Amino acid sequence: MKKTLLIVYHTRGVKTTQLAEAVARGAATESGVRVDLRRCADTGPEDVLNADALVLGTPENFGYMSGMMKDFLERIFYECEGRIAGRPWALLVSAGQDGAGAVASVERIVMGLRLKKVSEPILALKEVTPEVLEKCEELGAALAAGLALGVY
Ligand SMILES: Cc1cc2nc3c(=O)[nH]c(=O)nc-3n(C[C@H](O)[C@H](O)[C@H](O)COP(=O)(O)O)c2cc1C
Repeated sequence: MKKTLLIVYHTRGVKTTQLAEAVARGAATESGVRVDLRRCADTGPEDVLNADALVLGTPENFGYMSGMMKDFLERIFYECEGRIAGRPWALLVSAGQDGAGAVASVERIVMGLRLKKVSEPILALKEVTPEVLEKCEELGAALAAGLALGVY
């Protein structure tokens, strides 16, 4: 059975979508992996339990993750706690300044799920540059290759 990379994101703008889509694009180069790109509102605990790797994407709002990302994490946390430990994950953040509040808030919660962080957060600060999109594509490709090879 194909392994699944789940990319879950929220935005009321466009930049976080661009980051998430770039990860999906990179992962699509690996035909042996299913890439599931979804909005937070459309994603529940079963989706996370069925995923072999997780990428989260959020803008920084008021020094924190977006409200919808927090809602998603609140809905999945207790059903997934203790059941997905060790699976790889990574974070995408779009922010006007340094994105540190969004990064810290997501990492603190995900720490409780005991996932394995496989990349430093990818940050799009003020704009989504070609370099940032390339990093996202590389992340997607690396995660997909790792899943296909059974590294994860
Ligand atoms: C309600 C709101 C709150 C925001 N708060 C912050 C903030 O605390 N720090 C920051 O760096 N940017 C903040 N921003 C700017 C967004 O993080 C930034 O524009 C981001 O790139 C938007 O990404 P998006 O296009 O995916 O929505 C805020 C934007 C909105 C709409």
